[in-house]
Amino acid sequence: MNLINIALAIFELEHELERELRYRKINFEKHDRLYFLDQNYCPIFAQVTWINCKKETIASIGDGIKKLKAAGRNWSLFTIENHRRAQLIQEGLYKIKDQPIEFLGDLPKYPMGGWTLLDANTIVYSTETTSRFALGKCEFVENKTIPPSRAYLKLWELFTLHCKTPAKGTQVIDMGSCPGGWSWVLSELGLNVVSVDKAPLDPKIAKLANITFLQESAFALDPKSLPNIEWFFSDIICYPERLLTLIKKWMQESNTKNFVCTIKFQGEADFKVIDEFLKIDGSKIIHLYHNKHEVMWWLTKKY
Ligand SMILES: C[S@@+](CC[C@H](N)C(=O)[O-])C[C@H]1O[C@@H](n2cnc3c(N)ncnc32)[C@H](O)[C@@H]1O
Repeated sequence: MNLINIALAIFELEHELERELRYRKINFEKHDRLYFLDQNYCPIFAQVTWINCKKETIASIGDGIKKLKAAGRNWSLFTIENHRRAQLIQEGLYKIKDQPIEFLGDLPKYPMGGWTLLDANTIVYSTETTSRFALGKCEFVENKTIPPSRAYLKLWELFTLHCKTPAKGTQVIDMGSCPGGWSWVLSELGLNVVSVDKAPLDPKIAKLANITFLQESAFALDPKSLPNIEWFFSDIICYPERLLTLIKKWMQESNTKNFVCTIKFQGEADFKVIDEFLKIDGSKIIHLYHNKHEVMWWLTKKY
């Protein structure tokens, strides 16, 4: 096959990557969790994708080290064959400080390449990848005391890596907010949060000054009753089609221009519905490192 990109499947979501590649009619070869692709495609269900991969023959471990060092500075390895030999090459490369980052902290300064040993004398590598973190693993210095759920890490990742935060003082709505991880993040950013769920918020989140809690269904709420909402957040557990209808309602009946939503799948991911979301001009979908069987869809407009 004509190798172009390599996608690393998310652990235990290998089947979703395969379904996505078949849906997009992309040929692939599977080597453990690495999927060799014959097109320049970066799948949603990949932890990281190595773009425009190159193949080279190496005469020895030292030669492998020399060739990778000549191509780039930072390298992360995923082994599929010759594990010990690959590890010895990796040990000769620049040591990566694999430390957790702070929310909205600086990202690693240098690009992160990816490489593997195809056989004892062949390396496959790319200096152009979809993440600056080793194998796409983005870990945070977590707050283990305040947030009542780990869902806050999804917003931390989105805002630190992919999307600007709303300006302080902005009115936002957080749909499906219980127990309150997202509402806590939004409140910490100095936003005025309308937090909506059928279930109650965690008491320590409910008492925060800039959170107004509405205990009702997100689907029953009239967008016209909240005319100043600039950002719409949703982590509601519901069918993707139902979420899409809700988003379209808010797009038509309110002035809200910015949307951040998790699309959750019960059973297999639905790529037809993913395409329906992507038809919304300017919107994006990724599988965050902190997403489980769900993806993140967002749309932000410049003011
Ligand atoms: C994954 S949890 C949200 C976690 C939250 N983002 C956090 O950070 O703590 C999903 C929430 O969706 C809520 N939900 C389900 N159907 C809803 C509806 N019709 N209206 C509002 N919330 C709903 C559930 O009650 C549940 O609390």
